[in-house]
Amino acid sequence: MEKTFVMLKPGVLHRRIVGEILTRFERKGLKIVALKLIQLDEARARSHYAEHADKAFFYDLATYIVSGPVIACVLEGTDAVAMVRRLIGPTKVQESLPGTIRGDYAYATQLNIVHASDSKASAQRELAIFFNKDEIYEWEDGNAEWF
Ligand code: CMP
Repeated sequence: MEKTFVMLKPGVLHRRIVGEILTRFERKGLKIVALKLIQLDEARARSHYAEHADKAFFYDLATYIVSGPVIACVLEGTDAVAMVRRLIGPTKVQESLPGTIRGDYAYATQLNIVHASDSKASAQRELAIFFNKDEIYEWEDGNAEWF
C-alpha cells in the first residue's frame, strides 16, 4: 500500500465540485486516510511548491494558492502515486484528455483544479507539510478485496 498527497486548489469550493472530485478517487478504489479544509499561508505555500521557486510562474502560483481555502487529502492504495496521477491527467491542460479530472474540469493550467504528488518521495514530503501523524488514519477496509 502506498500513500499520496492530493490538494483541491482554491476555486474548487467556489464551483461546488469538491464532492465530485473526491468521488473520482473513491470510485476508483482509493482510500481516504486524511482530509481537511485549510487556508494556506505564504510560508506553507512556499514550502509545498519549493521545487518551483525559480520558475517564471512561481509568483502567480504562490499568490493563487493562498487566495482561498483548499482541500488537503491523503489517499492510499496500491501504486497510489501513479494511479492518482493517471486519474488527474497531465499538468498542462492542453494535454489533459477528457475522462481525466483536469481534462473534464480545467481550462487553464494555472487553474488546473488539483495537485497530486509526482513521486513517493514527494508524497512523503508534501503530506507532512499538511498533516500531523495523528491526523492520518489507518482504518480497516472491509472492501479491500475489490481493489
Ligand atoms: P501543480 O501540479 O499544482 O504543480 C505546480 C503548478 O504550477 C501546476 O500544477 C500548475 O497549476 C502551475 N503552473 C502554472 N504554469 C505552469 C507551467 N507553465 N508549467 C507547469 N505548471 C504550471
